[in-house]
Amino acid sequence: MKTAERIKQIPPYLFAQIDKKIAELRKKGIDVISLGVGDPDLPTPPNIIDALEKAARDPECHKYPDYEGSLDFRKAVATYYRRRFGVDLDPESEVMALIGSKEGIAHIFFAFIDPGDYALIPDPAYPVYKTATLFAGGIPYSMPLLKENNFLPDFSSIDTEIARKAKLMFLCYPNNPTAAVADEKFFEEAVEFAKTYDIIICHDSAYAEVTFDGYKAPSLLSVKGAKDIGVEFGSLSKPYRMTGWRLGYAVGNKDVIAALGIIKTNVDSGQFTAIQRAGIEALLGPQNSLDEMLSVFKRRRDLVVETLREVGLEVEPPKGTFYVWVPVPEGYTSSSFAEMLLEKAAVVVTPGNAYGDHGEGYVRISLTTPDDRLKEAMRRIKESLSF
Ligand code: MLT
Repeated sequence: MKTAERIKQIPPYLFAQIDKKIAELRKKGIDVISLGVGDPDLPTPPNIIDALEKAARDPECHKYPDYEGSLDFRKAVATYYRRRFGVDLDPESEVMALIGSKEGIAHIFFAFIDPGDYALIPDPAYPVYKTATLFAGGIPYSMPLLKENNFLPDFSSIDTEIARKAKLMFLCYPNNPTAAVADEKFFEEAVEFAKTYDIIICHDSAYAEVTFDGYKAPSLLSVKGAKDIGVEFGSLSKPYRMTGWRLGYAVGNKDVIAALGIIKTNVDSGQFTAIQRAGIEALLGPQNSLDEMLSVFKRRRDLVVETLREVGLEVEPPKGTFYVWVPVPEGYTSSSFAEMLLEKAAVVVTPGNAYGDHGEGYVRISLTTPDDRLKEAMRRIKESLSF
């Protein structure tokens, strides 16, 4: 069977590959511990499940959902933005429900990238930004995220010719995979740069609620003028442990939201209304489960950082996300270190170079594994590095 040319330039999806590998090893009886995908092990809070159960019994929810999301869900997102960031949104034109933020992130490229257009993509990054650029026929231009720049892109180093031809720029803070965080000043610089070159900023803020040590992640949209050129992608997956439910949203510039809507209404029919009602409960109901979750991730973060320091790896406790971005020991590459850990310790970590060339020299550890398994993984990693 001959696939379309565009498929040939896209590697298989990173986390699907990792899942396959884990399944193969487990079939052989190997007790693999995965610190790979960022899929919270903690369950969805019960009040959200109750809301789903109730909504699922309502025949009103059994019909096609509203394409752009129910107005009630969009209003709940707007209420959350006002409460959390002090940002006002018009629920009708500036908020759109997504079937998980991943699909919106991928579809936005089809709304704005013509073949040959540039998209400015952080490197390392969540793989979807680059693959969606390629799917749309665009050219990904890599913005290196370097340790010396606190893993923030340096806008002044972007080729001005390319900037003129760029249509979209993706950002993500708190950052996957480096766990770096950004402040409002950084977003101000991003907005200024984007306005100079007439580039749309898409900010992936999936980890906005996963922060520690008193740090609160800002919204891109808090910055003056951001809504003129920016949208933000949010997700209920990580804060409310709803990865399997597939519920997210895009908010911000109404023309960008409308263009995304043209793509989406032609390829999907929206998210199940009952799930959106549960999403309203998540956003507007009690928030104490968020703090409980953060204290679990903080405990795990500290355990991982302490263990890695004991074996001589220089790791700072991240202020955001449930990832730890770990420089590999001397003599290893990202891949050879990840392979060694798999072989000697049966522990899966993601090699940094899978997120882009500038991820070389790092691996990503996800903290979304129960404490006892994480402790066991740390014991095995320590042992594998001690001889
Ligand atoms: C990750 O591990 O980077 C994410 O969980 C993947 C995703 O959000 O799709």
